[in-house]
Amino acid sequence: MDARAVKDSQTTITELMIPSYANFGGKIHGGILLSLMDKVAYATASKHAGAYCVTVSVDKVEFLQPVEVGELVSLKASVNYVGRTSLMIGIRVESQNVKTGEVKHTNSCFFTMVAKDDNNKPVEVPKLILENEEDIKRFIEALRVREIKEKVREEMDDVKSTIEATNAKEVLKDERCIIKIRL
Ligand SMILES: CC(C)(COP(=O)(O)OP(=O)(O)OC[C@H]1O[C@@H](n2cnc3c(N)ncnc32)[C@H](O)[C@@H]1OP(=O)(O)O)[C@@H](O)C(=O)NCCC(=O)NCCS
Repeated sequence: MDARAVKDSQTTITELMIPSYANFGGKIHGGILLSLMDKVAYATASKHAGAYCVTVSVDKVEFLQPVEVGELVSLKASVNYVGRTSLMIGIRVESQNVKTGEVKHTNSCFFTMVAKDDNNKPVEVPKLILENEEDIKRFIEALRVREIKEKVREEMDDVKSTIEATNAKEVLKDERCIIKIRL
């Protein structure tokens, strides 16, 4: 299987934000942007893998700046990292006001995708050729993110298994909730 360079699968999708994408407050629904992120992640991952890919997990999606109707949203995606069958895709989302030319960086996030064969089994993906410092930095960053996620997953499993409702009165005394059962 031939290795492929980051630039070989880099993909940008640009879409006009039309009124039917808006919520009741007149801003673009987060779900519309998530769907676009999923599409660009799929396009990038499948170009690199040469195979059908599925979304496994999504990290660091934050909607810190609203996107307005009439803006042009561009999603730039690259393969940041490949494991054996998985690929981490980095996506940068920008929204442009066409009248003023102002460009907002609305967020950057990571999608983990897995390549599948015709029997729906994970299949090996080509190695990634790193051609510049940016490619190398992103690959190392993705490795770190993968390690952190693994730790968080383990810690969350531990947390779940140690939670008990019996001491809730003490644990939740400063929280904005009302306990309606006798403990
Ligand atoms: C993701 C999936 C393929 C993992 O299957 P599995 O039998 O656990 O396979 P493996 O253990 O061999 O893992 C395959 C790869 O997924 C990665 N993976 C598994 N769970 C993961 C998670 N929670 N987060 C990130 N990566 C994960 C593994 O690290 C492995 O990557 P690698 O080969 O690069 O090391 C399987 O759970 C799946 O098909 N899920 C449904 C995905 C889907 O349909 N998405 C569409 C939206 S519904």
